[in-house]
Amino acid sequence: MGPALITLHDKAFRPYLSAAEIATAIDQVALRLNADYAGRQPLFVVVLTGGFMFATDLLKRFTGNCEIVFIRVASYEGTGSTGQVQEIMGLREDVQGRDIILIEDIVDTGTTLNHLLPTLRANKPASIEIAAMFFKPASLRYRLDLKYIALEIPNDFVVGYGLDYDGLGRNLPDVYVAA
Ligand code: IMP
Ligand code: MG
Repeated sequence: MGPALITLHDKAFRPYLSAAEIATAIDQVALRLNADYAGRQPLFVVVLTGGFMFATDLLKRFTGNCEIVFIRVASYEGTGSTGQVQEIMGLREDVQGRDIILIEDIVDTGTTLNHLLPTLRANKPASIEIAAMFFKPASLRYRLDLKYIALEIPNDFVVGYGLDYDGLGRNLPDVYVAA
């Protein structure tokens, strides 16, 4: 674990999950992906920015052949969802007939996925599943089938491991919660 309390901008955060706990949870997701996608050559679609760290650790554990692409969306300001998704960078790869796995840092209200899924489905992939490092079940506002969740967490604002508070904290290997 890092230091007891950290400060990002105006806010104090306390340790919440260690890098070791995160790694153990990712191992479990990777085992399932390796079994489910054996021989299928999936297309991993990483949702930036927050998904970069989870994607890196998860994909190093994926043993089959796969392709990896990145898209970028943003729906957050400060510690609250704006409820609107701004698509910043679209997907250019042909997804028709592909087995797609979306990689997300966290599913909170579900707004981001609720916006992305119809767009992806319109391009006729063979399948779409979601892999997310964190899931806040208490915040979910949409019906989503979340097959690969590493950790469920309460409805608290967390930072670290890819997640930011107004741009800061993404680099932290551990996860912190508002103190
Ligand atoms: P959703 O669209 O409400 O599900 O939120 C998804 C996005 O909001 C995530 O990809 C994160 O970028 C951001 N987000 C949600 N909860 C948190 C949090 O606790 N800390 C930092 N970012 C968060
Ligand atoms: Mg995000």
